[in-house]
Amino acid sequence: MKLSMRLGPRSYDIILKRGALANLSQLAWLDRPVLIVTDSGVPAEYAQKVAAQCPHGTIATVPQGEASKSLKVYGQLLQQALDAGLDRGGLVIAVGGGVVGDLAGFVAATFMRGVDFINCPTTTLSQIDSSIGGKVAVDLGDAKNIVGAFWQPKLVVIDPDTLSTLPRRHYINGLAEAIKAGLICDPQLFLLFENGDVDADIEDIIYRSLLVKKKIVEQDETEHGARAALNFGHTLGHGIEAVRGIKGRRTKGYFHGECVALGMLPMIEDRQLQKRVRAVYRKLGLPARATYNKEQVLAYMRHDKKARGGSVTLVKVPGLGCWRLDKAPLEALETLVGLDKA
Ligand SMILES: NC(=O)c1ccc[n+]([C@@H]2O[C@H](COP(=O)([O-])OP(=O)(O)OC[C@H]3O[C@@H](n4cnc5c(N)ncnc54)[C@H](O)[C@@H]3O)[C@@H](O)[C@H]2O)c1
Ligand SMILES: [Zn+2]
Repeated sequence: MKLSMRLGPRSYDIILKRGALANLSQLAWLDRPVLIVTDSGVPAEYAQKVAAQCPHGTIATVPQGEASKSLKVYGQLLQQALDAGLDRGGLVIAVGGGVVGDLAGFVAATFMRGVDFINCPTTTLSQIDSSIGGKVAVDLGDAKNIVGAFWQPKLVVIDPDTLSTLPRRHYINGLAEAIKAGLICDPQLFLLFENGDVDADIEDIIYRSLLVKKKIVEQDETEHGARAALNFGHTLGHGIEAVRGIKGRRTKGYFHGECVALGMLPMIEDRQLQKRVRAVYRKLGLPARATYNKEQVLAYMRHDKKARGGSVTLVKVPGLGCWRLDKAPLEALETLVGLDKA
């Protein structure tokens, strides 16, 4: 399957096909200096499969985990790009999850004022969500995605076969972003979760989620309007992630998608739909009720950039497949966090 992201001169194709990783050379020009970025948790065979098709390819493997989205690792990769002989005609290829995609994408965006970037996502989260849209970044200490850019890839190659090695919890975690896409824009996609089998339907789930994101990004590439819809579940989700997320030396807690899953629940205004979503979470093994320190989550959200100016802008889902923006006073956050425990 092929989708085209239409962004004028920054347009690109998204290829979704089993085995596509082995056919990259048929899809892109690889006969030039190439830096292939992967991490230590991604089975090495995926980057090797790509390297085998690059006559002038160098593999750079960073340690797995969010900690690699740092200025230090970013600097090391820039040096490796230089050592690998990349010039302005060079190419950076990401082979991995959202961490590798964000990091390698930011290297591509900034090395010699920007070189070509190809993203080969290997987690559900990155195949469903983070590999398209052009947001690339590294973290600044605990502050996520503070140093970044909008840098669209030249091509995105999604090979669902790579998901066979992904640990189950990561697999399910990424599906939260697909449930998000269904809730805001695609009732059929949500029904796949209610009535279908996620393993059997995975290609359909990825395809439909990408369609939702594509349509929204095409309308609003740099997040000044409609793209806000993609933040559904993320305002509260980021608060939960700050307090209970797995990051830095904290190895227990929730993954990003799990926080978003929890963050979406109180934003669903139709109680019946809220129940259906909880049932889907239980079926999949996503957290359906959170145990988090309400005060700490609130404190984080009060400081969150979206909460500036005494109010917070929330994405609400009044019914399946639609969304609206709700500018609420800061005090409303208290009720909101409480609602989740009702
Ligand atoms: N740019 C965006 O628009 C955007 C959107 C959402 C999230 N993100 C970012 O994405 C990151 C999270 O991405 P993620 O959930 O993919 O996590 P991740 O990249 O850390 O991958 C999860 C784990 O799975 C391993 N892994 C990856 N592919 C594998 C495979 N096929 N088989 C076995 N193991 C594999 C990785 O080594 C890692 O340990 C965060 O940094 C987040 O900020 C970016
Ligand atoms: Zn997200």
